This record gives sequence, C-alpha cells and structure tokens, in this order.
Amino acid sequence: VLIFALSDVILAGTDCLVAGDSCSSDETCSPRLRTLRQCVAGDGSMKLGPSAKSQCANAVSALLSSPLRGCQCKRGMKKEKNCLSIYWSLHQSIIHGLNLVESYPYETVHRDYDYVRLASITADSEVGMTTVNRCLDAAKACNVDELCQKLRTEYVSTCIKPTSKSGLCNRPKCNKALRKFFDRVPVDYTHELLFCPCTDTACAERRRQTIVPSCSYENGEKPNCIIQMKNCHADYVCRSRLAQFKFDCEPSETSANGCKQENYGACLSAYTGLIGSTITPNYVDNSTSNVAPWCSCSSSGEARDECDHFLGLFTDNSCLRDSICLYPSLATKAKESNKNNRIGHI
Ligand SMILES: *[C@@H]1O[C@H](CO)[C@@H](O)[C@H](O)[C@H]1NC(C)=O
Repeated sequence: VLIFALSDVILAGTDCLVAGDSCSSDETCSPRLRTLRQCVAGDGSMKLGPSAKSQCANAVSALLSSPLRGCQCKRGMKKEKNCLSIYWSLHQSIIHGLNLVESYPYETVHRDYDYVRLASITADSEVGMTTVNRCLDAAKACNVDELCQKLRTEYVSTCIKPTSKSGLCNRPKCNKALRKFFDRVPVDYTHELLFCPCTDTACAERRRQTIVPSCSYENGEKPNCIIQMKNCHADYVCRSRLAQFKFDCEPSETSANGCKQENYGACLSAYTGLIGSTITPNYVDNSTSNVAPWCSCSSSGEARDECDHFLGLFTDNSCLRDSICLYPSLATKAKESNKNNRIGHI
C-alpha cells in the first residue's frame, strides 16, 4: 500500500495524452493498453468470460506501474475527450476491481488560490464608495479584460441567437461557447460574475441570467435527474466534470470549513466546470442562492434514493452552499489583504 501511495505522488499530474502516447510506443505497454480498451468497451459492463476477466486484470495491474497510473487531463485542453478516454480506460476498470486511492480526472491549476488576484481588478473602483454593486462591477471588470470580454460576447451572442430554421437557439453551440468561457477565462472574473452577492431580486435575476438560461438551462418540462445523470455519464467530458465536482465539493462534517478538500475556490471551479454540460446547474430562482440542474426527482419510483442523492449534490450540499455563500466576503478579505500587502511593499 505504501509503495502505491508513493508512486501516486510521483506520477500524479502526468498528462494522460502524453502517458498514452508513450505507452503506445512501448512494445510491452502498448498491447496491454489495447487489451484494457477492449475490456472497458461499451462502458465496461460487457459480460466477460473468466479468461477474458483475468486478461483484463493482468493488463490493469501491469498498467498500474506505467505512467498511465495517476495521469490526468486539463480542463478545456485540446483533445480533452481523447485524454479523458485514456483516463477512464484505467479508472473504469479500477472501479470494478482493484480499488486504489481516490483520484480525479483534472489537474488543478491553482490548487490553493484564495481569491487574491481578484483584489487588484476591482480595488480601484471601490475607493471611497459606500454602496457597491459587485455584480455590475464584475461585468465592468470583465468588459475591460480582453479575453473575458471576447469570450463573454461570444457566448452571449451565440446563446441568444435563434437559428433560422426552428426559431429556437442552438443549444449545443451555446453550451460549447459557455464551456469555453468558463474553461479559459481566469476564475477572478468568472467567479465574481457568477457568485457576486445580491440583496434584491433584480440583482439576483440578472445573476441568474448570466448563463443565458433560456438557451443553456431551461428546456421544457424537467426530465428525471436519473436520465440526466445517465446522459452525463455517457459523455467523457460531462462524466469527468461531474467526478471532479463530486471530489472538490464533497461535504464533510468534520472538516473546518464544511468541505472535505477544504478549498472553496476549487469547489466553485468544479461547479462552473459543469456549466455547458447536459447537467448545467444554475440558480433556481431570484430570491435565493439555491442552485440545481434542470431536472426533478418527482416520479422516480424505485430509483428515488439514487435520484435524490444526485440532486442533493446540488441542493443539499453544505460544502457547495458555503462555497457560494461565503465567496463574497472571502473575496473581499483577500482583496483587503492584497491591498495591505501592496502598501507593505511600498
Ligand atoms: C423573479 O422571478 C419571478 C418568478 O419567475 C418573476 O415573476 C419576477 O419578475 C422576477 N423578478 C425580477 C426582478 O426579475
């Protein structure tokens, strides 16, 4: 067990595409990877005979000492899907047999950022002001940043544009543009836009409209969450975003801040990683900060518990709730401490 843990530390963060390439060009590794891919084809639930099973097990245990073990992908990277398919070929089979240390598909870029950079962006506009509308300031800050402005304009125009044929918006294109925005723009901008504090419904309504929900979120009658969950699981990107969200926003009663990973910023990032997927979450109304994907658990029958569990990841999750509700004050604190640091430097 100790040796495994050590190799995880060493190998964590290897890019799965790179690891896959180096495995494919290695004559002992390559056939094992090919075997493994056959083992997990069709979501791995295929019935395998005893000899196939042992071949699969052998391939897995051999690959665990290759760079594939502990490899990860980057959110929004080129060939993200290819990278994730390599990640899951190993992890899917692990789920069925050998249980290893917990793992998550995405590299975290700033594991420990604490809203510090946010400080410099809006600090000046607040000097001497007694009332501040952070949501409007966040929009202004985004407008003066080239990347934020460009990608925001891109998704808004894509999401509000009706297609000439149906008169409805192009949902897949809208979702793609939203993912691009949340994957590429620094969290200093995206978190401030989406999690700025509101005290009235007009503000909360604007905040709810940030992701153009008429195109990206609302979609007729709410489907059952289990169906949404299965759709998500069938797509490597959505499945990975969800796995990351479960990991980073896992609640804990014993940790100091309600999150097992003790990182609000990482939880919020994982949350925004789901925007533009088939389970895009959003604020459910303009009078609370409650969030949920567009689905329901009424009439789930036998699967009620499973459904409630999934929906509860959003509606009954103390880590996510605290991350969203404490964001405004923590970001302000970070801003102040950054200001003090700057004064200190002068
Ligand atoms: C808030 O939501 C309600 C219900 O959807 C809606 O009728 C109302 O107009 C909204 N308020 C604002 C300020 O947009």
